[in-house]
Amino acid sequence: MNVWRKKPIAQLLQESEKTSLRRALSAVDLVLLGIGAIIGTGIFVLTGVAAAQHSGPALVLSFILASIAAAFAALSYAEFASAVPISGSVYTYTYVTMGEFLAWIIGWNLILEYTLVVSAVAVGWSGYFQILLSGFGITLPEALVKTPVEGGLFNLPAVAIVLAIAWLLSRGVKESARLNNLIVFLKVGIILLFILVGAFYVKPENWTPFLPFGWSGVLTGAAVVFFAYGGFDAVSSAAEEVKNPKRDLPIGIIGSLAICTLLYIAVSAVLTGMVPYAELNNSAPVAFALQKVGQNGLAGVISASAVITITTVMLVMAYGQTRICFAMSRDGLLPQVFARVHERYKTPYLGTWVAGLAAAALAGFIPLGRLAELVNMGMLTAFVLIQIGVLVLRYKEPDLPRGFRVPGVPYTPILGSLVALFLMFNLSRVTWLAFFIWLGVGLVVYFLYGYRNSTLARNAGPER
Ligand code: ALA
Repeated sequence: MNVWRKKPIAQLLQESEKTSLRRALSAVDLVLLGIGAIIGTGIFVLTGVAAAQHSGPALVLSFILASIAAAFAALSYAEFASAVPISGSVYTYTYVTMGEFLAWIIGWNLILEYTLVVSAVAVGWSGYFQILLSGFGITLPEALVKTPVEGGLFNLPAVAIVLAIAWLLSRGVKESARLNNLIVFLKVGIILLFILVGAFYVKPENWTPFLPFGWSGVLTGAAVVFFAYGGFDAVSSAAEEVKNPKRDLPIGIIGSLAICTLLYIAVSAVLTGMVPYAELNNSAPVAFALQKVGQNGLAGVISASAVITITTVMLVMAYGQTRICFAMSRDGLLPQVFARVHERYKTPYLGTWVAGLAAAALAGFIPLGRLAELVNMGMLTAFVLIQIGVLVLRYKEPDLPRGFRVPGVPYTPILGSLVALFLMFNLSRVTWLAFFIWLGVGLVVYFLYGYRNSTLARNAGPER
């Protein structure tokens, strides 16, 4: 059995030349695509739970710690994306460096991560949407906004928004990217507004005690808010639709992450300074803090904007998901249907709908906390693999032209992998279990389908 067969880089680059996707995105589009994917439920929703239950006012430290893990990985993503600018992100990079089997595992893992991100973010969106509706005096029945675990039937707004996103994406990347750009300006605008206005209401006494749950709380908090940084990798999955990938991809990845990190640190400092941390335990902490200091108008504006802007996270992540399936399907590891491109819209429309329906079902029936932890697990695994991948690529393909190089190799990627592993061990057992079950199913699918149908296998002829 040859499960370690690798895809030659030259062949990959040639394939992408023939791509039928449209090259329409610039560096600025990519930074905005990144910000669009990064800022969402993490900062608008999970900050509350993290501050109240894990980190306390030291939420800032949790965000800094999580950003370190993300920054290490971003460097590796940037190197890979600039060397192998091909749709499929870390999946493709693994295929080139570590062979088909690990590539399959990581691709399968990315499918889980991206699908769940869309679902998790939809649940966060649903929370702000309900606040918005209540502003108009409308309250949806409990049964239609809660999952069965929480005592309801299913989360209707979350399901509806995921399906709407699938529809948008199936209509074409150009429209989606343009819409994304507009919304990102609104998103960054309201965050800056929150920081500027909120700063006037900060009471330093809210920051004491600074570490109510000790350092272990800060670590668990970091493993939870890590969710907020996910998304910059979606930039690299757009590689085949970028005009000048070698230069623009690193700018998109590192630029978007850096901007979001600064914003997050400021938001978490202001938020925990405005309100005692224990009161932040609710589904719309940012709006809550503003109401608490009497800024009801601004709280309304922020809720409305959160509803609009969190949508872009789903848009970008769902987009990334379909492109990963596209790449895996083109390689023969998934059925061809995921690579079929719509003649008029130039999008992998069938794959988009399959993923959309799955994400909608998960959003309807599983609570946010569970979804978010599993996403983090998937994301951290990808982070470890991509950093190992950079080391392998340096060793195997030292002369491959790279638009960007990770500094301090081999130490930087090794340290980065350790930080990611460390955060993984701060996640719950249920999450580990769910993760292993998904991987088990993936192994079965690979050996029953992908191993035989892989393009590499078919090109190599019958096995001897
Ligand atoms: N980083 C994204 C969010 O916070 C997934 O919603």
